[in-house]
Amino acid sequence: MNVYDSEVLKGILSKNGYSITDRPEKAELIIVNTCSVREHAEIRAIGRLNELSRYKLESPEVKLAVIGCMAQRLGERFLKEVPALDFVLGTEELFKLPDYLEKKEEKPLIALSFFELKEIDSSPLRKNKFSAFVAISRGCENFCSYCIVPYVRGPEKNRKVSEIIKEVQCLAESGCKEVSLIGQNVNSYKDDSNDFADLLREVSKTEIQRIRFMTSHPKDLSPKLIKAMSNLEKVCEHLHLPLQSGSDKILEKMNRKYSSEEYLRLVDLAKSKIENLSLTTDLIVGFPGEKDEDFQKTLEMVEKIEFDSAFMFKYSPREGTKAFLLEDDVPKEVKLERLQALIEIQKNISRKKNQRLIDTTEEVLIDGKSKRDKLKWKGKGRSNKTVIISDNKTDKDLLGEIVKVKIKEIDSFTLFGKVEEI
Ligand code: 5AD
Ligand code: SF4
Repeated sequence: MNVYDSEVLKGILSKNGYSITDRPEKAELIIVNTCSVREHAEIRAIGRLNELSRYKLESPEVKLAVIGCMAQRLGERFLKEVPALDFVLGTEELFKLPDYLEKKEEKPLIALSFFELKEIDSSPLRKNKFSAFVAISRGCENFCSYCIVPYVRGPEKNRKVSEIIKEVQCLAESGCKEVSLIGQNVNSYKDDSNDFADLLREVSKTEIQRIRFMTSHPKDLSPKLIKAMSNLEKVCEHLHLPLQSGSDKILEKMNRKYSSEEYLRLVDLAKSKIENLSLTTDLIVGFPGEKDEDFQKTLEMVEKIEFDSAFMFKYSPREGTKAFLLEDDVPKEVKLERLQALIEIQKNISRKKNQRLIDTTEEVLIDGKSKRDKLKWKGKGRSNKTVIISDNKTDKDLLGEIVKVKIKEIDSFTLFGKVEEI
């Protein structure tokens, strides 16, 4: 969502006559968009902002802005961390940056209000021409006890089906092949009588070729949506379904509103209805009160379900959340040990699952050259796995093409294969 917000803001700024540069030494205004989901991200943002402050020392007319979740969370307190700031704009105020730039206030400007976010008037400036994020909703009101998002992004606001369709169709006409519909909890999407499954059906009717979405909350993943996924050809067979913990005691304390048993049932249903389903998840270790037996339950679930991949995190206490009031009683070393054990187990599962894909065919949307080997094309399969093209057809410009690739080699994170047909 932050990446998308940055693209939206770039679109708004360029519409207002500003030109965009990635090089801070050339900029008259430096903007840092921030995440506050974990403390680590915040520490890095503060470090980066203080490092960027030197451009102001060199040329005092340069302005420095911090925007997004962390700006929303800290407000004026940000000035203590980064005294050089000129603007601190929250998650919705950030879209008004051009107005604030015209006002030329002397003192640092802090704006944090949540306004009734109407349609944001912009054409996001996207780096990737062929695969685009499209926000369908913003904010979240699930209040998982560890999570800062509901506080910094406010309650859920859904865009209208018609606006989403307009944006997707416009993208398709400009050559975009794939959209990722994003929201903190896409499954609770609603516009009049339309739910998320209805939205998927409508988006499928546009000329876009592939559709993805994230993130799904298990409590709102309906059989209707699973059916829509299996029926709609354009919707990729990938579900990102955060489990967070395998222990019912911890799930309850996290306010996740499902049990491990319910989660398993959902996964079974999804796997039985959606052929070649790729299933990914988020997991947190070391939540307050997590005993070794709770962690073992997370491992058991991970081994039973066999996720294709997982984002795995150490619990990070966030001021203002319910869990912050609980004692952070799992020692740092134990959190680290659990995280390492989990990562190791998941890595082997990912490898095992990828192994099964050898000699199968993936439909890959090529998005650039491999970082490891700049001569080779790479892209994403429908499963959302990265695929590197390892044969010698690389002289052909494949950028933005959807190609069939026969998988020949794998590791835990990547598939390697040869183009079958173009
Ligand atoms: N500590 C650790 N991980 C967190 N997440 C959200 N809040 C926290 C926190 N306080 C993780 C969850 C979520 C993902 C986006 O980040 O797993 O699904
Ligand atoms: Fe945070 Fe839970 Fe909302 Fe996800 S669903 S953004 S974890 S509160």
